[in-house]
Amino acid sequence: EHAAVITHALAQHTLTELRSVETEQIAFRKGLVRLGRICGYEIIDTWLETEEVPVQTPLTETTGPEIQGLDDVVIVNVLRAATPFVEGLLKAFPAARQGVISASRDESAGMDEDGSFPISVEYVKLPEIRPEDTVIVADPMLATGSTLSAVLGHLLGGEADPEQLLVLSAVSAPTGLERIDEEFDEAELVTVAVDDHLNDEGFIVPGLGDAGDRAFR
Ligand code: PRP
Repeated sequence: EHAAVITHALAQHTLTELRSVETEQIAFRKGLVRLGRICGYEIIDTWLETEEVPVQTPLTETTGPEIQGLDDVVIVNVLRAATPFVEGLLKAFPAARQGVISASRDESAGMDEDGSFPISVEYVKLPEIRPEDTVIVADPMLATGSTLSAVLGHLLGGEADPEQLLVLSAVSAPTGLERIDEEFDEAELVTVAVDDHLNDEGFIVPGLGDAGDRAFR
């Protein structure tokens, strides 16, 4: 398989709420925040290591687990739909450094014959990425993969060679997952759902519509 799926019941439940056409703007945005938080916890569980460390309680000395690497996390916010999603992730990774990239599909140009969209990248501001870092690139939707391909190209274009590179989406289409998996060997894809297909306009079906519009409109 191309992606690791976050199966936590609350993640799946929240995604169902996000899918619903009845969910209006405020609830949609809050849902994305909640989903980001759960995904963050799940990423900690699977991708970060835990060590047993000594701890002094008010009564005695004992040991307890401590998550390693929480200070070596970089979260990349792919504007604009990722903003509430990242807000949730930050609850799991309060010490994360943040990068911001604006990348969006030029939908007026339409989908190319090869099934990709032209992407305009207008703003790129990334913190220094160190070898010990876990980098999480967050975008709620992975459709044709055009956006994330452009983003990862910028991210890895320089010297960056982080310890782990996770690409996190809420909903993804098989085409996009395949494309990113093929183009970026070092990226690990993480998603809450792999949906059925892309329609002629490049929308994920069943999907959740246009996440950016639904959260910001
Ligand atoms: C949406 C979504 C992803 C992208 C996915 O963004 O948030 O970034 O499309 O599609 P792709 O995999 O085919 O590139 P959009 O371009 O609508 O921008 P927005 O987040 O600003 O609404």
